[in-house]
Amino acid sequence: MTPIRVAVLGAGVVGTQVIRLLREQGEELSARVGAPLELVGVAVRRPHQHPDIPAELLTTDAAALVAREDVDVVIEVIGGIDPTKDLLLTALRRGAAVVTANKALLAEEGPALYEAADAAGADLYFEAAVAGAIPLIRPIRESLAGDRISRIMGIVNGTTNFILSAMTADGSSYELALKEATRLGYAEADPTADVDGFDAAAKAAILASIGFHTRVGAADVYREGMADVTAADISAAAELGCVVKLLAICERVNTGTGDAVSARVHPVMLPRAHPLAGVDGAYNAVYVEAESAGRLMFYGPGAGGAPTASAVLGDLVAVARNKISGGRGPRESAYAALPVQPMGEV
Ligand code: HSE
Repeated sequence: MTPIRVAVLGAGVVGTQVIRLLREQGEELSARVGAPLELVGVAVRRPHQHPDIPAELLTTDAAALVAREDVDVVIEVIGGIDPTKDLLLTALRRGAAVVTANKALLAEEGPALYEAADAAGADLYFEAAVAGAIPLIRPIRESLAGDRISRIMGIVNGTTNFILSAMTADGSSYELALKEATRLGYAEADPTADVDGFDAAAKAAILASIGFHTRVGAADVYREGMADVTAADISAAAELGCVVKLLAICERVNTGTGDAVSARVHPVMLPRAHPLAGVDGAYNAVYVEAESAGRLMFYGPGAGGAPTASAVLGDLVAVARNKISGGRGPRESAYAALPVQPMGEV
């Protein structure tokens, strides 16, 4: 069987785990795909910092790697918009499948990527971009495609949930908890993306887009981070039988002239009896309410190298299977059904 050739862009917290698992479990994954999965290149900035990766796989030339005609799947775990967007567009335009964990890129530049993927008949999968290991994108994009979703609400940032949980449980200071979240590999390279809510807003934009079959960008999401939440706020909430959580809320709303999508991220005081109130540490949980399905809850590790790598590898197996069968995953570029409610009108 012709191998499926895989390139990985980035070998940070997630990339290192993806590469380790691909090398340790490659045979098992290949058997699931029905063709050998072959890792042919890993693009990094500083090769000498990756002694565990065979030197012949390492390159600093990501542009040349994604342009290689023999690369069937590009896994992107670098993050950021530039130069990642151009790298992924190059890969998609020549028909390679792309698996990405890059929520910021999808939230900012999703339409360009979806259009390139559809034009070339290429797969674009991004399970790892929202809520780490939790199967969430594919259930919303595929399993619930026959239903009408009314609300998606959840804890989608592991770092801030870790910090808020630590401040609630043992009165840890914000600074110490953030330091620990960074040490454990949950926080972004620039943790203000977590604490100021940008990371959760990007995820809300992705969830709103796929859940409501429309285009919601990061700028459409009302955003308040958790930086202003104090120990006094947490104690006051506790006295009222509540916990403070940073939630992403995406819902179908009636504006008076018709339906629209509203998306927002902000701290919420949740009664302790609420199922999301007990979600602690770097765990994420997302509630989905749909007309026929009713209420669904997705729960699990939302950040960290290995959990996020699990989602990346699940996508790799899916796109490799599609390549073999000649099929492909969902098209996204055709959607533009619901208008987005402007931020100020939430
Ligand atoms: N920094 C992110 C978080 C990583 O804390 O949730 C996973 O997207």
